[in-house]
Amino acid sequence: MRKKIVAGNWKMNTDLDGAKELASGVCGLLNREVQGGTSQVPEVVLFPPHVFLPPVVRICADHQGISAGAQNCHQEEKGAFTGEVSAGMLASLGVTHVLVGHSERRAYFGEDDQMLAKKVERALAHGLTPVFCCGEMLQEREAGNHFEVIKSQLGNGLFWLDEIQIRKTVIAYEPVWAIGTGVTASPDQAQEVHAFIRKLLADKYEAGVSANLSILYGGSCNAQNARELFSRQDVDGGLIGGASLKAEDFIKIIQSF
Ligand code: 13P
Repeated sequence: MRKKIVAGNWKMNTDLDGAKELASGVCGLLNREVQGGTSQVPEVVLFPPHVFLPPVVRICADHQGISAGAQNCHQEEKGAFTGEVSAGMLASLGVTHVLVGHSERRAYFGEDDQMLAKKVERALAHGLTPVFCCGEMLQEREAGNHFEVIKSQLGNGLFWLDEIQIRKTVIAYEPVWAIGTGVTASPDQAQEVHAFIRKLLADKYEAGVSANLSILYGGSCNAQNARELFSRQDVDGGLIGGASLKAEDFIKIIQSF
């Protein structure tokens, strides 16, 4: 059975008090869900800015089914990389996941496939689950190239892993034109790409990999559209940006299975 996952990418938002309040708010509401036992409760991962990871890790540690992830890690083990944060440092805090290849990192920080492959390797070496993001830009979709783009991003960044390693990853499909725009992919569009990714996995790895790897959708996913997106066969949850910044909105997305 594939894991259902709802993840909140806070990006460069909140301050210390706000981060603690948001994490506590989500944990409190999630507790009610778990105890209520009425709906299927997915695994939840919060991705605060690096500096707020220690308190968010601590808050999550008191609750079931929720943990903290990092928005990025450096690709090298350690050394003279001023201002950077390594996978080992994150693991030592109790962080469980790390985003790799978010389109904002690719676009604004020049992260290429080769660098992303190294980040994946480094994350796995420290027992972190890489959440590998892929997705096409608007002009690529309009030109009908989205499948090629996604195939190439996954091929270069992720599919060099062996059978054992790939099972320890999560994939997030985030079409760049849907991120922060209010224009979400339709459930059919999301399903089509997710099924394509699963086929790529099936072509490359043994059947169990494709069947068991969680593929999340991200891009203007919110409390209004999550249920329909998550109802599709190959959509195993969401990577949520803006709508993860209010505990009440985020919990509604968590309730959408
Ligand atoms: P929005 O939900 O704000 O569109 O952001 C999606 C995203 O980039 C999550 O990583």
